[in-house]
Amino acid sequence: MTIEDNIQNLLSKREEAKLGGGVKRIESQHNKGKLTARERIDFLLDEGSFEEFDMFVTHQTNAFGLEKQKFLTDGVITGHGTIDGRVVYVFSQDFTIFGGSLSQTYAQKICKIMDQAMKVGAPVIGINDSGGARIQEGVKSLAGYAEIFQRNIMASGVIPQISAIFGPCAGGAVYSPALTDFVMMSKENSYMFVTGPKVAKKVTGEDISIEDLGGPDVHGKKSGVAHFIADDEEEGMMLIRKLLSYVPQNNLEDPIITECSDPIDRKEELLNEIIPSNPNQPYDVKDVIYSIVDYSEFLEVQRHYAKNIITGFSKFNGRPAGIVANQPNYLAGVLDINASRKAARFVRFCDAFNIPIITLVDVPGFLPGSAQETGGIIIHGAKLLFAYGEATVPKITITLRKSYGGAHDVMGSKQLRSDMNYAWPSAEIAVMGPQGAVEVMEGKEIAKIEDPVQQAAYVKQKEDEYREMFANPYDAASYGYIDDVIEPRNTRFRIIRALQTLASKKDTNPPKKHSNIPL
Ligand code: HXC
Repeated sequence: MTIEDNIQNLLSKREEAKLGGGVKRIESQHNKGKLTARERIDFLLDEGSFEEFDMFVTHQTNAFGLEKQKFLTDGVITGHGTIDGRVVYVFSQDFTIFGGSLSQTYAQKICKIMDQAMKVGAPVIGINDSGGARIQEGVKSLAGYAEIFQRNIMASGVIPQISAIFGPCAGGAVYSPALTDFVMMSKENSYMFVTGPKVAKKVTGEDISIEDLGGPDVHGKKSGVAHFIADDEEEGMMLIRKLLSYVPQNNLEDPIITECSDPIDRKEELLNEIIPSNPNQPYDVKDVIYSIVDYSEFLEVQRHYAKNIITGFSKFNGRPAGIVANQPNYLAGVLDINASRKAARFVRFCDAFNIPIITLVDVPGFLPGSAQETGGIIIHGAKLLFAYGEATVPKITITLRKSYGGAHDVMGSKQLRSDMNYAWPSAEIAVMGPQGAVEVMEGKEIAKIEDPVQQAAYVKQKEDEYREMFANPYDAASYGYIDDVIEPRNTRFRIIRALQTLASKKDTNPPKKHSNIPL
């Protein structure tokens, strides 16, 4: 063979690899409205930045006639590239080869890039589109999954891990995405479940469609498994790029600070008037968020799940931060099981990756009732408490209105090592709201008054007294639990100055193997 033949041979092998499972299967992929594994990588990464690993890998199985069906790449495309010039590692499952199912060599390819990502200190993005364990490989495939899971676990809190689900993700395979930091699903063709509809029907008798069992609506709104639901794959990949702009490459780095032309002392008059005079009237806390962050840009995480608490990323004078905010517009912003879990996971992600946490508080308390108690609100609420208390990143809390009871302590209170605690003049910081407090303290007196008009007047008088005494920020400020009461329109400036001041903050937890967060 001449050198030219050799090169020709290489080029034709590359062409073969790029065809995956063949033209027909690529067509079928497109007909379903799906991109191919390679098209996804091209869309995700900076143009021309992708360098592929292991293009010539094939499976090593001779059972079931598989020795006659070998495809270069073996069903997963792996390598590295850049997003906005920063290195990322990526794997993209190729449904055109054995339905993207995972073999031993396929798993080894994924493990190889995960290992290198750990050494380099760069994020890993996994694009999932697979029929799960390659049936013909039996237990080798299961072992391959476990190898990946182990690496997901070791990488957790060291490098950011992001999963996109752009096809099936079924059986134990779901646990790799579940172990990563963020799960992205698209509205079409995206589903995740541990056991599929057929098994569900057989075992429990339940007749359910694939979408109703594990589609984006289920995981975006009800289970909380998915953090982002994109309209389509393209939007999903743009969201991943955006997400990475708030996140450092690894746990030893800080998030990147970008140029910002949005004035730091921009006063937002709207904020001085946003709190309704009636304490029971809701407002949209997202209006507060949009007013205080750079260019009104807010990347919301778990937008459709536990809407009584808002989580997401923004920048303040170019400095990334995570925002946690009670949402009075939904269930009065109450803390319940789902909201506690959602916010706790978000706080822990921010803390693991050196992203400061801004907390906007307007919380009437924990949601009462047997459903919450039997569902374990004690343990789930404790997760959020734990997450705040353990976090060592800069923590800035602003109490906008209500901050009652245990929820007050949980939501980034001073005693949980919060660095700056500000309150608006409209803040009400107390053990409970005036109605509840008067009921508890004056119940017997109230019952003695027979005339309903007199009774109502008495209740109102007592509530007013209580409000005067406790439903304000000054009692808390008199003990130093609130560092300053600020004019709402200055909130952006106060946060930016606090973040600048706290940029060099160092805090630690006692040495230990790991904590025992109430799971
Ligand atoms: C080998 C598989 C495969 C698998 C699909 N294929 N899944 N090959 N192992 N797990 C092959 C098909 O034979 C077919 O090959 C091609 O991929 C496309 O599959 P279709 O069925 O034609 O596609 P579609 O109709 O779109 O259905 C997709 C699907 C279905 C819903 C994913 O293929 C399916 O149900 N597959 C089995 C899923 C499953 O039960 N997996 C095991 C889960 S348990 P040809 O040659 O025709 O193109 C699991 C355990 C993991 O994964 C445990 C980790 C701890």
